[in-house]
Amino acid sequence: MPSIHEILEIAKKAAAAARAVQIKGLTEGHTVTHKGRTNDLVTSADLESERVIRTLVHQHYPDHGFLGEESGHSSSESPWLWVVDPIDGTTNYARGIPFFCSSIAVRHEGRTVVGVVDNPIAGETFWAAEGQGAFLNGRPIQASTAEKFTEALMATGFYYDRGRNIELTLSGIQKFYNQGIMGLRRLGTCAMDLCYLAAGRFDGYFEIGINAWDFAAGEFIARQAGCTVTDEQGKPLGMDKSYIIAGSPQLHPQMLEILSDWRTTPRVF
Ligand code: IPD
Ligand code: CA
Repeated sequence: MPSIHEILEIAKKAAAAARAVQIKGLTEGHTVTHKGRTNDLVTSADLESERVIRTLVHQHYPDHGFLGEESGHSSSESPWLWVVDPIDGTTNYARGIPFFCSSIAVRHEGRTVVGVVDNPIAGETFWAAEGQGAFLNGRPIQASTAEKFTEALMATGFYYDRGRNIELTLSGIQKFYNQGIMGLRRLGTCAMDLCYLAAGRFDGYFEIGINAWDFAAGEFIARQAGCTVTDEQGKPLGMDKSYIIAGSPQLHPQMLEILSDWRTTPRVF
């Protein structure tokens, strides 16, 4: 059985391979199409990044399972599963906004044990491994200790779905501003939102309708850094599409309370 250390090194190598594809696509050009809904884009760099990650993983571990945003789930008997978003922040990438990342989580027997999130343009690689804590470019990172919303910088996102979920998100934003928050950001990548939370740059993050490939690595890195990450009921995230409420340990229970209508309104996604 491979060690966690070995898996982490392969995940970092895979992120480095994707980084090269992404920088090349941004500088030399790439194509953009959409996946059904006109606001849900995919670029040639998404597809090529996922291809190089998948190839590298299967070169080392031919029997491991793989779930990628673009190529789907390959079933496997193995207890290992790689959960990959080749580019999180695809809309940013497609528009030439240099803020995106690759996100690679490795799960063993249903629990995430390694997470790597790589932002090629900022030159920042976030990672965490079970029992080792969370790191940014090799330096340990920790959740913020913010206790009050007046000292909180928050983040959110909007899923591609429109209608009721957007209303719930917008009313959530209003409620946090009513608490006197410092400000709110919408970076356009859930994985970076969670890593910024892990590094104490953000104090809270909330979003409706997030897929496992978007959150798997980031939520693990955030938890390893001491953040609390749950769904709207306060339960740990699994592999299903979910609501996400994440924050410093002090703010998280208050966030659940403020977003209590998320708990009582039936999920639509
Ligand atoms: C999206 C980003 C965005 C979030 C969306 C995601 P993609 O992922 O994470 O921040 O608001 O819900 O779908 O499409 O860039 O991989
Ligand atoms: Ca993506």
